[in-house]
Amino acid sequence: MEKLKIIGGKTLSGALKVQGAKNSVLPILAASILVEGESVLKNCPNLKDVDAAIQILRYLGCTVSRKDRDVYIDSSALTKSDIPDNLMREMRSSVIFLGAILGRTGEAILSMPGGCELGPRPIDLHISALEALGAEIEEVGGNIKCRAAKLKGCEINLENPSVGATENIMLAALNAQGETVITNAAREPEVEDLQDFLVASGAEIKGAGTSKIIIKGKGERHALEHKILPDRIVAATYLSAVACAGGKIELSDIVPGHIKTITDCLEEAGCKFKIYDDTVLMSSNKPLKAISPIITRPYPGFPTDAQPPLLASVLCAMGTTVFVENIFENRYRYAGELGRMGADITIEGRVAMVSGVKKLKGAYVSATDLRGGAALVVAALSAEGESRIAEIDHIDRGYDAIEEIFRSIGADMWRIDE
Ligand code: UD1
Repeated sequence: MEKLKIIGGKTLSGALKVQGAKNSVLPILAASILVEGESVLKNCPNLKDVDAAIQILRYLGCTVSRKDRDVYIDSSALTKSDIPDNLMREMRSSVIFLGAILGRTGEAILSMPGGCELGPRPIDLHISALEALGAEIEEVGGNIKCRAAKLKGCEINLENPSVGATENIMLAALNAQGETVITNAAREPEVEDLQDFLVASGAEIKGAGTSKIIIKGKGERHALEHKILPDRIVAATYLSAVACAGGKIELSDIVPGHIKTITDCLEEAGCKFKIYDDTVLMSSNKPLKAISPIITRPYPGFPTDAQPPLLASVLCAMGTTVFVENIFENRYRYAGELGRMGADITIEGRVAMVSGVKKLKGAYVSATDLRGGAALVVAALSAEGESRIAEIDHIDRGYDAIEEIFRSIGADMWRIDE
């Protein structure tokens, strides 16, 4: 089994470019089903989840090839409208294909996305929105069967601003008759990136980035080239790692506004920032100071996905930092692993209290989920001595060549087989 071996305690310095966003690529790959001809996605990170989405596209009948970080997709020959269980399980966010397949073929059969490491991840909002658009949906033996001879635009008010549900509605509504209006839509930058892709293909959509999105159905959509947005959570992870290990980093190819909630926290912790157009310079003279409570919320609030790496960065900060997780249950499973490194974390329900310790010690730990795994990397980079992180499949779902990236800025970090 592959593990990450990290000898911690090295100062990290250097320049990094940030990979394309996983959470943009996945819905855009699904959206490519709705576009005629061969499209090119640039800046596609090399990730397990992207491989899984490509496998789904190929199963459906699309032609997909990859040259380094460019992915070419032609969905002209799409013939199938189901996703088998083994492919659904490969990627938890495969439910994002529902709206696109339904819109393209008039039916979609998917197995229920399996239990999730972050607690229950319901899809009721996706289902009720597709029903509002005219789909008939039944659940048979763990499968969701959707049928719609004709989808019809309507107004959908989301009970909570779910990212996936917003994206699914946008995709299904593209082939509906008339106009669909989503209110209380998710405002995440990745939703805007999906809109940018679709608009460049000829679709009429506006409002992404705000809580009201208007989609005009039908119309032609042509092939295009699109560069994937930088990954704000990966940027947050790199910054968190350098903040607690100490050092200097120049992060380029980013949108500073997308990571403001994170840079604000690290500034409060004592890091120094200079921000240019698409670049952030950060220096950190540890130890850091504890910061005001971090409360995760939908964008533009503090992102739940950045909570684990940021929490890891304040494990040795002076004082106590409080985290409140509002989006997913069970998001603190990684905290037990950090405890093996000497972290002092008390969890009560949605609240985690982190009391800064003098130092962390390297340990043998296991990634419990994607961002929890990133937190272990951040902690191990600043810990004294050797850590080994197992179950790194989770980390590979969202981080492109993480060991090479950190090695390039001075870390002693290797992928080993044992
Ligand atoms: C997306 C991101 C994920 C991120 C999350 C929140 C992708 C591929 N994944 O996940 O990395 O952590 O946004 O920023 O983009 N909910 C319901 N019913 C539903 C759908 C969601 O109750 O039908 C709830 C969820 O349980 C959760 C909240 O809404 O509490 C937010 O979930 P959602 O925004 O849908 O997250 P995802 O799209 O799954």
